[in-house]
Amino acid sequence: MINEGKFGVALVGCGIVGGGTARVLTEDIEYLQERTGIPFYLKYVVDKNFDNARNIGIPEELYEEDFNKAIADPDVFLVIELIGGLTVAKKIMTRALEAGKHVVTANKALLAHYGPELFALARKENVSIGFEASCGGGIPIVKALTDGLLANRIEAMFGIVNGTCNHILTEMTEKGQSYKDALQSAQKAGLAEADPTLDVTGMDSAHKLTILGSLAFGERVDLDSIPVQGIDTLDLYDIETGKDLGYIMKLLAVARQTSKGLALSVSPCFMHTDHPLARVSGAFNAISVYGHAVGHTMYMGRGAGSSPTASAVVADIIATALDITPRAFQTLNFWPDKTEPARQLAPEDIASRYYLRFMVQDRPGIVARISSILSEEGISITALRQKEDRKENIPLVMTTHEAKEGAVLKALDAIAKLDEVIETPVMIRIVEEHPENVI
Ligand code: HSE
Repeated sequence: MINEGKFGVALVGCGIVGGGTARVLTEDIEYLQERTGIPFYLKYVVDKNFDNARNIGIPEELYEEDFNKAIADPDVFLVIELIGGLTVAKKIMTRALEAGKHVVTANKALLAHYGPELFALARKENVSIGFEASCGGGIPIVKALTDGLLANRIEAMFGIVNGTCNHILTEMTEKGQSYKDALQSAQKAGLAEADPTLDVTGMDSAHKLTILGSLAFGERVDLDSIPVQGIDTLDLYDIETGKDLGYIMKLLAVARQTSKGLALSVSPCFMHTDHPLARVSGAFNAISVYGHAVGHTMYMGRGAGSSPTASAVVADIIATALDITPRAFQTLNFWPDKTEPARQLAPEDIASRYYLRFMVQDRPGIVARISSILSEEGISITALRQKEDRKENIPLVMTTHEAKEGAVLKALDAIAKLDEVIETPVMIRIVEEHPENVI
């Protein structure tokens, strides 16, 4: 085993993913050096607190509190940023790039907010940024988009890219748990963060959609223009009613190329139980990508966690040492600092089928009044479900043909004003399987 020379690596942040990465880079290094032919090795573990590093048996001689010392070392060719968040992580990454070090990161929030600026800095300093671990944990989706699928014009991409949300939705669907109970069980299982806000509000998925959408379509996606809805306001009633109708609910990050621009969204969606993504459950992630030549391809695996994410981090270190990432970064023209801002459809222009639920007082003519408002907005109903019940207030569920979101929202606004409608109507997208257009 070699642990000296110019392929030294400095790991910054030894938490869940950092710890997993440190473990692979110490326990498996002999195998990795032999397998890749590259004498890379972990030279520094930079952090303020080494409790986790100690717990998992990372050798103490690697611990370093002074980040400056690590980046001043000419034997460090690459810095791994695994502290997460925006402020300190941005400083760390900027300083590493300015010191002429390649960077590998799992930080989707940082890249979604500041990607173009950080990529431009890396280019100026003649180094690269590897970010496979930022989207889909251990799934090599960045590699697929920037290598294996290069022959394609990407037509659409549908992703279950948040393991916490997929776990919660699976528990709600399969065990009939409420959102609150399912979230608690995810936290107990160590799946959800102590503060799961970014996950359950859909923002984590939007960060990943910004990164993957920019790569897939070669246009710079603007995070702030993506309509985002999380799972934190869902009602178990709708998941169970959807199930009766043959649907399963997933939090989906969607990107579709249309003649008027990119239709991007993050929201809970219903899909038929025979949809390819419907079977992806628990903490798993999956991304379906449709290319004009290849048709449908799908990538599935563990989207979070210590060793799955470490797998992607280590692959990026190797690809950088092999000069694959730096050369692709110099040559290919779809990195977010090289592309034009994407033409993104306004949310009201995005078309979809919908599941709608209205809580109404059971009075004569209410169904007619609701359908009449929908029809005025050009929205056509595909199914109507009302279970016979002697209660005063009843749920009325409808599914629709494809309609623009603007028209649906306008109709729901008018419907909500009807005297008999006693709650804000519920609106959930229904996603059909995307058609393949291969020759
Ligand atoms: N918190 C994310 C998830 C993993 O639950 O999928 C990191 O992006």
